[in-house]
Amino acid sequence: MKVTLSVIKADIGGYVGHSGMHPRLMETAEEELKKAQDDGKILDFHVLRVGDDLQLIMTHTKGRDDEEIHKLAWDTFLKCTEEAKKLKLYGAGQDLLKDAFSGNIKGLGPGIAEMEFEERPSEPVIIFMADKTSPGAWNLPLYKIFGDPFNTAGLVIDPKMHDGFRFRVLDVYENKVVDFNLPEDTYDMLALIGATEHYIIKEVYRRDNGDIAAVSSTQKLSMMAGRYVGKDDPVLVVRSQSGFPAVGEVLEPFAFPHLVTGWMRGSHIGPLMPVAFHEANPSRFDGPPRVIAAGFQIAEGKLIGPRDMFDDPSFDEARRTANIMSDYIRRHGPFEPHRLHLQEMEYTTLPQVLKKLKDRFKGI
Ligand code: F6R
Ligand code: MG
Ligand code: MG
Repeated sequence: MKVTLSVIKADIGGYVGHSGMHPRLMETAEEELKKAQDDGKILDFHVLRVGDDLQLIMTHTKGRDDEEIHKLAWDTFLKCTEEAKKLKLYGAGQDLLKDAFSGNIKGLGPGIAEMEFEERPSEPVIIFMADKTSPGAWNLPLYKIFGDPFNTAGLVIDPKMHDGFRFRVLDVYENKVVDFNLPEDTYDMLALIGATEHYIIKEVYRRDNGDIAAVSSTQKLSMMAGRYVGKDDPVLVVRSQSGFPAVGEVLEPFAFPHLVTGWMRGSHIGPLMPVAFHEANPSRFDGPPRVIAAGFQIAEGKLIGPRDMFDDPSFDEARRTANIMSDYIRRHGPFEPHRLHLQEMEYTTLPQVLKKLKDRFKGI
């Protein structure tokens, strides 16, 4: 059976400030998606949230970029926005950048990661969702999962994975993609994806049979709006086991809380802290950035789950390290590299400050 898994997310109002989600919004989303399921539009759904971001996880048979599915997500976010407005939640409807839906949710504001696949005899999938960061945050873990044998033993040991994986990388400034075959293109790819705000891994495929392995959301909210309106807190879908990396290999990179951009005002660097669902409330200095992992078994299109994959003491040390790193980097205050590089700050007051000071600069 061919199934499409669509994960569509938006920040349509925070509780309190940008730190969390009001339960009423999740209930509203569940009510809307239940109706769609009863009408036969979708096979199954699950509503989750990380920080102030609401994720609609849906299965159906309509393929990627389906107008009806995208409209369902858009209308659901609109309904939630109505609730958010009633409660005067913070930034109600902030990611719905246009007034009207026009066929496809891409370019409208919500983030989206979709994959279509032939359901295997057993189909374990992990959906990662992050807040206070951007899609480039997935580059390092995706490389480790699908390209690094020190992380993924299966690249060496499993004959089905030994041919390696193909990575599709997006240049967000040129809006072009380039494919890399690992392991032989490893160094060329790393030269690019180390620049996480410029080159973003969009998709990963198995090389032996071309099967889709991972998809990330790559929308750039700031650019779409023509100015800074918030980060595009990203989602990532990864298939696992039997020719794909094992669940433990998929989770392993997150035991290292690597530095990502997007903390406080989208303008700071901080560690990505892996947390259980109930701990996904970035509060200290609006952070530090959080990631949750929802595990599902997909059965005839039904979402069996989720299992809260970071609700495990083996990630305690990563959380502790992230707190120590936060203490350390916070002491830099407005100094780089805690604050983002000047080029990344162009939607803030900095250009205005430079303009104001223009005549005070003197030649020497
Ligand atoms: C939002 C975020 C927050 C806000 C900050 C200021 O996702 O990361 O750190 O940027 O709370 O928010 P405003 O400008 O809405 O007062
Ligand atoms: Mg918000
Ligand atoms: Mg957010």
